[in-house]
Amino acid sequence: MTPDLMEEGARRLAKTQAPAAPGQTESGGRAAGFSRVAVPGEVDVTHGRILYLEDVHVSFDGFKAINGLSLDIAPGELRCIIGPNGAGKTTMMDIITGKTRPDKGTVFFGSTIDLLRHNEPEIASLGIGRKFQKPTVFEQLTVFENLELALKTHKGVKSSMFFRLDSAQSDRLAEVLHTIHLAGSVTRQSGNLSHGQKQWLEIGMLLMQDPKLLLLDEPVAGMTDEETARTAELFLALKGKHSLMVVEHDMSFIRTISEIVTVLCDGAVLAQGTLDQVQADERVIEVYLGR
Ligand SMILES: Nc1ncnc2c1ncn2[C@@H]1O[C@H](COP(=O)(O)OP(=O)(O)OP(=O)(O)O)[C@@H](O)[C@H]1O
Ligand SMILES: [Mg+2]
Repeated sequence: MTPDLMEEGARRLAKTQAPAAPGQTESGGRAAGFSRVAVPGEVDVTHGRILYLEDVHVSFDGFKAINGLSLDIAPGELRCIIGPNGAGKTTMMDIITGKTRPDKGTVFFGSTIDLLRHNEPEIASLGIGRKFQKPTVFEQLTVFENLELALKTHKGVKSSMFFRLDSAQSDRLAEVLHTIHLAGSVTRQSGNLSHGQKQWLEIGMLLMQDPKLLLLDEPVAGMTDEETARTAELFLALKGKHSLMVVEHDMSFIRTISEIVTVLCDGAVLAQGTLDQVQADERVIEVYLGR
């Protein structure tokens, strides 16, 4: 591994494995308004929601990219988000992950963790993983090394050179390899994988952290039909163990995986329901699906 790669890996780990500060509030671990002690490292889903957004607003130079967005997701749910270009789907993910600060609104992870009090690395370490559209695996490393890298703690380059997987981590790695359909490609250099396989590998790297919530922005863009079908299987297998929020324009993919579909338009929820319900909604047809 080159020094550049090691540095890059260390930087990446700094983003995903910063010291966790879950449950910390100004009132000292007791979240205001809920009269319940927050347990560090645990997401309180007793109210039936893992993610809760209420009346969120963001403007960029006066343009209202997010305009009164309210949405919630149940634990273990696989929620699909659709909507026209510029609807605010990616911006919503930027807000949840702490990349963009809203001007106004409420964003909670479970009942007690106010995400607006946390920065991007903290939110990642709280258990929210994000997959951007473009795969960003380390091309020179093997599949195994990429997954292993996703586990290493951020203690600088030197200690990560001597990092050894413990047996629980080895088991986790084997399980993830199987889940992402790459068990037969462990020693392959990642740069030689197909586009779809790179996407799965990156999802695998997120899974190594065992995230509670996964945000996936256009995960099947550029995939072959077969890769898309396998990705649908993968997401259906992850549902229940993790909560997923999937943004996609590919309607046949959405049809395969969806239960509840939320339609975003002009920075707010336009419609919500089964795919059949939203596809029959005149307002959705008007702005997105066409006649
Ligand atoms: N950092 C930014 N600065 C200025 N404008 C922005 C910024 N981020 C997003 N926008 C604008 O906010 C609007 C919403 O963009 P966003 O990328 O969230 O849409 P989207 O629903 O993800 O669209 P697509 O389906 O094309 O990916 C767009 O008009 C976009 O140009
Ligand atoms: Mg987008």
